Amino acid sequence: MASPPKFSSSFSFVLLLYFLSLTYLSPPTSSTVTVPLSLSHFNPNPSPDTFQKLNHIASVSLSRAKHIKNPPSLSQITTKEPLFSHSYGGYSIPLSFGTPPQTIPFLLDTGSDLVWFPCTHRYFCKNCSFPSNPTNIPSFIPKLSSSSKLLGCVNPKCGWIHDPDVQSRCRDCESDFKNCSQICPPYIILYGSGTTGGIALEETLDLPNLKVPDFVVGCSLFSQRQPVGIAGFGRGSASLPSQLGLSKFSYCLLSRKFDDSEKSSDLILDTGSTSDKKTEGLSYTPLLKNPFAGKNDFSVYYYVGLRRISVGGKKIKAPYKYLNPGPDGNGGTIIDSGTTFTYMVGEVFNLVADEFVNQVTSYERAINVEQMTKLRPCFNISGSETVSFPELKFHFKGGAELALPLANYFSIVNDVVCLTMVTDGVLSDVSDGGPSIILGNFQQQNFYMEYDLRKERLGFRHQSCNNKN
Ligand SMILES: *[C@@H]1O[C@H](CO)[C@@H](O)[C@H](O)[C@H]1NC(C)=O
Ligand SMILES: *[C@@H]1O[C@H](CO)[C@@H](O)[C@H](O)[C@H]1NC(C)=O
Ligand SMILES: *[C@@H]1O[C@H](CO)[C@@H](O)[C@H](O)[C@H]1NC(C)=O
Repeated sequence: MASPPKFSSSFSFVLLLYFLSLTYLSPPTSSTVTVPLSLSHFNPNPSPDTFQKLNHIASVSLSRAKHIKNPPSLSQITTKEPLFSHSYGGYSIPLSFGTPPQTIPFLLDTGSDLVWFPCTHRYFCKNCSFPSNPTNIPSFIPKLSSSSKLLGCVNPKCGWIHDPDVQSRCRDCESDFKNCSQICPPYIILYGSGTTGGIALEETLDLPNLKVPDFVVGCSLFSQRQPVGIAGFGRGSASLPSQLGLSKFSYCLLSRKFDDSEKSSDLILDTGSTSDKKTEGLSYTPLLKNPFAGKNDFSVYYYVGLRRISVGGKKIKAPYKYLNPGPDGNGGTIIDSGTTFTYMVGEVFNLVADEFVNQVTSYERAINVEQMTKLRPCFNISGSETVSFPELKFHFKGGAELALPLANYFSIVNDVVCLTMVTDGVLSDVSDGGPSIILGNFQQQNFYMEYDLRKERLGFRHQSCNNKN
């Protein structure tokens, strides 16, 4: 139905218009934008039982991992994921959209692309983690903005959200392609633990010192188990870094001990840096592209080349296929701000966990707590004045080493410490699909992380992220 040459020539015309408009509207010259980054506090009624809370975060990290490894395509919207009552242990940023600007918080997520907000006063959110009174949900109201536009079906940007051949489904536009009012079909996005759906808008994104017109943003009408909104920072066209043409962005994640406080650190968006220079004090490793751009498209993720993992200086013999993505697109290691606890496939996780068990001889295993939290191993440190555990280190391609401070891989509850990493426990074959290792935000606390998109590298250094007044 999209075969007539007329269609493709008008399509090229629209493309041309689009590229012209990009040239003229192209926002960023050179500037650095700083947005305060604060810990999400999406759970207004934290469970008094901290073990239960850890168990919850472990479950959510795991279902997120399952999803990242096996992202549902839009045709599989009936797929069910395990759902949990609280949100991710995530980090949020406030962003302003519209004319005049309306400001709402967004979860910072490097593992997805679309930026979306709750939209309309009648936003329907099932099992969501903000106050049950729906009038308290921070929502964007398009009719209060003079710059809101519905994204058109024939707009090539519609292909960012749907597959690029979505235009062939713009039935109303077949006869009158140039003057067609059909809108881009509604989206439904499935995350590791939740869903959202709505329609796409073009709206002005109003950042400090930078206004970006015609930014594609999702206007969600319903969600299930979602935080307030999500700012997708992945590698696809619809993500915030792609739409802004960022050369880099960086963040420093506050320690989780500031959960639910007013403290913030900085997310830095760099639109125009042409410098190839490395930032002082950072260790760099190349960002890898997934070699397989097929049906299971993992190209949105930030892959890094993991060379090895060591526990207390002892190398873990993890098979290569888990450390780097293979030619079929499976396996490999990604870095993700939207996952809380690091995920590892069973085979790698067991090697790491067993190595801790082998090396930690001064404390008793706390099997009862392992059962309650779903985390392992856990050790009872009751009666110890000081604690000491083997160092956990990730060694990356290019020589960069991520040596984690103890607080980034062991969580202390009362007298028990547990390793804050998860697995699905199956002796997983890599054909299982998707990344084998997902480095989550718990492991990135108090690290300055720089995503250098122009030079395709990830830089990091350990520092305190709590140095803002
Ligand atoms: C989710 O919401 C439904 C009602 O919409 C409720 O019956 C159910 O208990 C909730 N589940 C959880 C785990 O909160
Ligand atoms: C576009 O469509 C509108 C209404 O559908 C019509 O009034 C207008 O004349 C059309 N414009 C062109 C250039 O065809
Ligand atoms: C930890 O060990 C102490 C002393 O043996 C014991 O009293 C306590 O119950 C243990 N804690 C847990 C959570 O098992």
